[in-house]
Parts: sequence; C-alpha cells; structure tokens
Amino acid sequence: MSNDLKQVIENYNESGLNKLIVKLDHVAYRVKMGERIPTMQAMMNLLPYREFKNFKILRANAITTCIKLHDTSPVIVISEGLNEDSIVEKYCQKYGSRVHHLAYLVKDIVKVVEIQKSRGVQFTSDGVIGSESEGIKQIFTMPIGTTNHIIEYIQRFGDFDGFFTLNNVENLMISTAKLGKA
Ligand SMILES: [Fe+2]
Repeated sequence: MSNDLKQVIENYNESGLNKLIVKLDHVAYRVKMGERIPTMQAMMNLLPYREFKNFKILRANAITTCIKLHDTSPVIVISEGLNEDSIVEKYCQKYGSRVHHLAYLVKDIVKVVEIQKSRGVQFTSDGVIGSESEGIKQIFTMPIGTTNHIIEYIQRFGDFDGFFTLNNVENLMISTAKLGKA
C-alpha cells in the first residue's frame, strides 16, 4: 500500500468516522430522457430486481424509480428528467447517463459532516437537508475529481425506511444544479 493511502486511512481512523459510517445504502443513476425504463429493463433482464417505488419530483422536473434485489441493499435509484430544463437532463447532457451518487448510511450525520468539514471535505449544500421529524437527513459531497460521482451521507430516524422525502430530494437535486452548469 502506498504511503499516501496509509496516511489517508490513519487520518480517517483518528477522525472517528469509522464508527459512524455503516454501509452502502443506495446507488443513484441519472439517465437521459427516455432512458429510465430501458435502463430498468436491462438491469431486470440481467438480475431479479423488482420495482418498488416511483416518485415525481416536480421542482426538479424529474421522475425517480427505485428497484430492489430481494431484501438486500444497496437499492438502485434511477432518475430521468421530464424536460430539457430538468437538473437531471442538464447533468446527463454534460456527463452522459451514469452513476450520480453512492449513498452511505451513517449513525450521526451532523457529527460526520462536522468531522468531514474539519478535514476539508466540501458539500453541495451548506448544511444537512431534512429533519428528524421527517425521518431522514441527507447531504451530498462535492463530486470526486476522477470519477465525478458524489458521496451522499444518509441517516434515518424512527421507522422511516425510504430513500428521501419529496422535499429532501428536491432540495438535494437543486443543490447539485450548479454542477450541471459548471
Ligand atoms: Fe440518494
């Protein structure tokens, strides 16, 4: 292992993040208009995924489908813009249809963000999006330089078992709007 990598791991262990980050929760794709159903069909042809949730995100002009393999995680989330002005479509015009983010379940998102900010990590929004009363809190990091995908931190509360609330997902998508225009 390179010394650079060893240093990252050492730094990470010291930060306390190890105990706060649990597992990969969902993988989110953004695809060009008209490609959401073909993407689902292709994946469901290769693997026994089942469709279990659909959301229309009005403020972001997008539609999102979630598919699940048995009862396992990560869930696959596929979003498609509904018109040319959609944040999702603009992103895909720039980067193509691709993985947009990997979301990791965490124990204390406020603490995770505090630690990461102190380590110089940047986010697409100033603070965490969502609330305990809504059952979910989420935040996006700025994209990783090489692969250009985002890391999402997600924390759920109570019996909430979704991947976002409609208000959250709109705010999250809007927080990435600048990335499509960059
Ligand atoms: Fe997500």
